[in-house]
Amino acid sequence: MKYFILILIGFFATAHIANATETARVAVPDTMDERVKACTICHGEEDRAGRDAYYPRIAGKPQGYLFNQLRNFRDGRRHYQPMAILLENMSDEYLQEIAQHFATLQLPFPPPEQIHMKPGEVSLAELLVNTGVPERDVPACGACHGDNLMGTSPYIPGLLGLSRAYISAQLGGWRNGGLMRGQTPDCMSEIAKQLTDDEAIAITKWLASQPATGQQSPASALSSELAHRCGSIVMEAEGSQ
Ligand code: HEC
Ligand code: HEC
Repeated sequence: MKYFILILIGFFATAHIANATETARVAVPDTMDERVKACTICHGEEDRAGRDAYYPRIAGKPQGYLFNQLRNFRDGRRHYQPMAILLENMSDEYLQEIAQHFATLQLPFPPPEQIHMKPGEVSLAELLVNTGVPERDVPACGACHGDNLMGTSPYIPGLLGLSRAYISAQLGGWRNGGLMRGQTPDCMSEIAKQLTDDEAIAITKWLASQPATGQQSPASALSSELAHRCGSIVMEAEGSQ
């Protein structure tokens, strides 16, 4: 109940969100489904999350990844004020429960975006996904995000089913050197900075235009060498297990 009240405080704090105050006035049962309505206002309850708006899909993402991101927003390592306000007073245990709730949701993915790509862009994107650029120390995206890019349990998110606007903003944030998510070593920031502008554009278009199919890869699919490039994997693995 305590947390539900906090969510309500969050609701009022973000009262500009359509319907938020309206929803808060209605007495609702104290279940996780009801509590996370504060989240689905933006993230969508079903597959509509993400595509038309900037809000990323969160349903079905690996639990450890969701937990890391919730902590990042709460602790100021990733910046988005409306979420920081909502999460401000939530404990790690509660964030873990929320992460688990969304990780277990199995919702259909939105259809891919229709994006025109030049032939050169397609081959550039496929090279990054399958081979990477060893001379610039850029591993294949698939080596961490899974062969089918649906993510690797429990810390690496899938790259399909996200909008072009969202992918572009995330890569842009890392490339511009902003303190976007802040774990050290920050593998994605290092990788994104090594990409040329053409590569970043090609991979963003390509990812947003692929259908999301298949399953997440198991943790065992990730080499320990690659895992150790990412603070968000090492930190969490050592902290909680
Ligand atoms: C006011 C709209 C809004 C609300 C309310 C909101 N979010 Fe978000 N959320 C966003 C936006 C926008 C982003 C992307 C921010 C960025 O660019 O880093 C995001 C990002 C996330 C991410 C990271 C996704 C990823 O793939 O990296 C998670 C996890 C998340 N939100 C969970 C939640 C949860 C859980 C709640 C409810 C407690 C919530 N959000 C409430 C708008 C919202
Ligand atoms: C060494 C492993 C590794 C490689 C290689 C890698 N990634 Fe990542 N990627 C990660 C991790 C870990 C995260 C989560 C970052 C965090 O926790 O903040 C991530 C997150 C992302 C995200 C954010 C997704 C979201 O939902 O917010 C995008 C976009 C992304 N990677 C794109 C790429 C692309 C494109 C490539 C290939 C050029 C690539 N990654 C290669 C480990 C990797």
